[in-house]
Amino acid sequence: IRDDQKDGVKEKKDHPFAFAFDIDGVLLLGQQAYPTARRALELLNRHNVHYIFLTNGGGKFEHERVSQLSEKLSLPFSPAQIVLSHTPFRTFAPPSPFPPLLPEIGKIPGTVLVLGGSADKARSVALHYGFDNVVTSKDFLVASPTLWPFATVNNDVRKLAKPLPTGTGPSGELQINAIFIYNDPRDWGLDIQLIVDLLLSHRGYVGTRSPLNGVSTAGRAFQNDGQPTLFFGCDDLLWANEYHLPRLGQGAFKKALEGVWREVTGGAELQSITIGKPFPETYKFAEGVLSHWRNKGEEGTMTGKREELKRVYMVGDNPASDIAGANGYKSEEGTEWVGCLVKSGVYKGGEPEHVPRVVVEDVLEAVRWALEREG
Ligand code: G3P
Ligand code: MG
Repeated sequence: IRDDQKDGVKEKKDHPFAFAFDIDGVLLLGQQAYPTARRALELLNRHNVHYIFLTNGGGKFEHERVSQLSEKLSLPFSPAQIVLSHTPFRTFAPPSPFPPLLPEIGKIPGTVLVLGGSADKARSVALHYGFDNVVTSKDFLVASPTLWPFATVNNDVRKLAKPLPTGTGPSGELQINAIFIYNDPRDWGLDIQLIVDLLLSHRGYVGTRSPLNGVSTAGRAFQNDGQPTLFFGCDDLLWANEYHLPRLGQGAFKKALEGVWREVTGGAELQSITIGKPFPETYKFAEGVLSHWRNKGEEGTMTGKREELKRVYMVGDNPASDIAGANGYKSEEGTEWVGCLVKSGVYKGGEPEHVPRVVVEDVLEAVRWALEREG
């Protein structure tokens, strides 16, 4: 397939390959679209080549993020072709038809704490996913302002908070069954304090300390006592936006929490589960989304089976997430994930710590390289 075909007519040909596009640093730089991004996706649309968006960003509904992309790139996209950092979390919600992303975890009933993102969006997303009860750090702060005395409890915060559900604990304490980080936390201090409290609690009961650990565990070994599971939506230490240098991401928050946890527990390693790129479970989930999109299209409008998908070109700007993930994922479908590293975001040049199949300037060059390669 050549980029100079001025056919203008949409090919009906099926292709044994498709694309997965990272967003930040590839298609968008903060709020700005790269000038070549639209042309790259138009070229694929013209040749009927399928693609999805696979981002470690999130904190909003899938349809909201894909609408933002459509608006910035002036092209139509569907919520069925995007995977946000927390999209796989929905598989843990009791009513979800999808199998749990991690079978050993299963479905998570009861109340979950959702952290990160702005306004109250992450709560709305988690409720939409089907979790029974969702609480946020603002709910805890308004209920107990001295929980983190450095936060401001103003009317904006009060408007976004909701009363905590009635507890079922021995003295009416609320039990938290899991903690999810949906997006970059906005108040690291409050969120770290909340997480540490719950991980030191007795079985996730808010405001308790496990009798195994006592009130002050500093310097003492930590004992597990049925505390809630902690999930991170991604591990990005750095990401790229309009600022001229890479910014700290959710992975940096995780490192900060790990340091506090080590000190508070006398050396215990933080137990947590991290999804997002580069973790294989996320690529397996994304492969399912891509296959569904390729074979079913918008709301299952398409029928018939496409030819087998042999290759997915993963176009990303971060070797530690996009390229490491493509290189590390071994598809059960036998699909080869080909890492294409662009220089338009976090990576700017030099020997990347995870070796891509190709290094190119930007997303258009990545698409052209792949189409040439596919012939
Ligand atoms: O929060 C966004 C950042 O972690 C990276 O997003 O699209 O480059 O995977 P993306
Ligand atoms: Mg990126």
